[in-house]
Amino acid sequence: MDLQHVKGTFDILPDGYLQGDTTIFPASNWTDAEARIRGVLERFNFEEIRTPIIEPVELIARGVGQTTDIVQKEMFAFRRGDDEYVLRPEVTASVMRGYLEHHLDQRGGVQKLFYLGPCFRAEQPQKGRYRQFHQFGTETLGTDDPSADAETIAAMLAIYAEFGVTNTTLRINSLGDADDRRRFREALRTFLKPYAEELSDISRQRLETNPLRVLDTKNEREQEILRDAPRLPDFLGDQPRRHFDEVKSLLTDIGIEFEEDPDLVRGLDYYSRTAIELESPDLGAQSALAGGGRYDGLAEAIGSAKRVPSVGFAGGMERLFVAMSATGVEPSPSAAPMAFFVALGDPARRAVFKLAADLRGAEVATGLDLRGRSFKAQMREANRQRAAFAIIVGDDELQNSAVQVKTMASGEQQAVAMDELVDFLRNLSAQG
Ligand code: HAM
Repeated sequence: MDLQHVKGTFDILPDGYLQGDTTIFPASNWTDAEARIRGVLERFNFEEIRTPIIEPVELIARGVGQTTDIVQKEMFAFRRGDDEYVLRPEVTASVMRGYLEHHLDQRGGVQKLFYLGPCFRAEQPQKGRYRQFHQFGTETLGTDDPSADAETIAAMLAIYAEFGVTNTTLRINSLGDADDRRRFREALRTFLKPYAEELSDISRQRLETNPLRVLDTKNEREQEILRDAPRLPDFLGDQPRRHFDEVKSLLTDIGIEFEEDPDLVRGLDYYSRTAIELESPDLGAQSALAGGGRYDGLAEAIGSAKRVPSVGFAGGMERLFVAMSATGVEPSPSAAPMAFFVALGDPARRAVFKLAADLRGAEVATGLDLRGRSFKAQMREANRQRAAFAIIVGDDELQNSAVQVKTMASGEQQAVAMDELVDFLRNLSAQG
């Protein structure tokens, strides 16, 4: 077949498989991981929000920022009629849009929301980097308080701890307020101007559009130049500095270790004050498990008259699975049925169809042959599906109104009256 999945995407199948050198975990692992993430976040008192996957392109352009890589070159954007849409590259801007659109502030108090779902960025695919990937994250909207920043970090770490992913480094920084960044940007520009000739094309361009991003460079010569550059922490005003000190002190209170990284600037434009990134050495080049920070100016950037100070983080499911693999976690098989019917002959197949309906109605997971295959083939199928019991029905069984229940693990077999089968299996099912 010449039709294949779109580059940078992948199918999640009932079984795990290798795509390149990456294990794509089976659907049951995803469902389980999502449930556990929900569990952790509900423990932290977050409520779920689900926003559309398509958004107006304007939201992302203004929210994430015109000069970011995401908006400049990674958006899956399309036009229909006069409207331009984008497959969301992240969820923070959408959550803020939803908050403003539905006046969620009127529910009272701080809104603590979490989400899980796909995001899209047209990046060059590589290990841990996809064009459709899946994020989980939190957004705490409507508070300036440093405790919200520290709580976000604690929730983020709790998720990775839930999966035994503790070989991580938490890096934090403060990007200051808009004013601090303006002064820093000017200082950085003035400092770098004389080196413009030596900078890469991309850094020279960033020098004009978004000088902070030059600090992200992996280029050795540029890193050398930057060694004597002005430092962001020296430009922090009193309030952002006090805010940052308080965040750090709260983290220390609850035993969370971190590294301060004055060069951590993050790739989205909406950040102010706290910036966070969680890294794992197990990820290779795409070392970020999760990232986030405070975005006090986002609401106004997307048209709110009111400031909505907020903080959040997002992590990638794919990278969580890579990190889990490194701790030795293996893909797990999908759920096995309790019972699998083996029917011999047409009258038995008809009876079994009805018996299966009864069992399913009684919440017993049940499978049956759908191809009219031989006894042997049906037994093989019961085995392959790891059914706890094979339930054998032929002419004799129909005549006696009793089926043969074979316990697959032991091979033991016993007759059970048809009208007692539901209770028989439901009892066993309840015992686990
Ligand atoms: P981000 O750093 O762009 O931040 O993405 C967060 C996480 O999503 C990354 O750390 C990574 O695990 C995952 N991720 C991003 N791009 C890809 C990709 N192409 N393939 C696989 N995984 C990827 C945000 O998106 C912000 N909205 C986070 C945030 C929430 N800030 C405040 N609140």
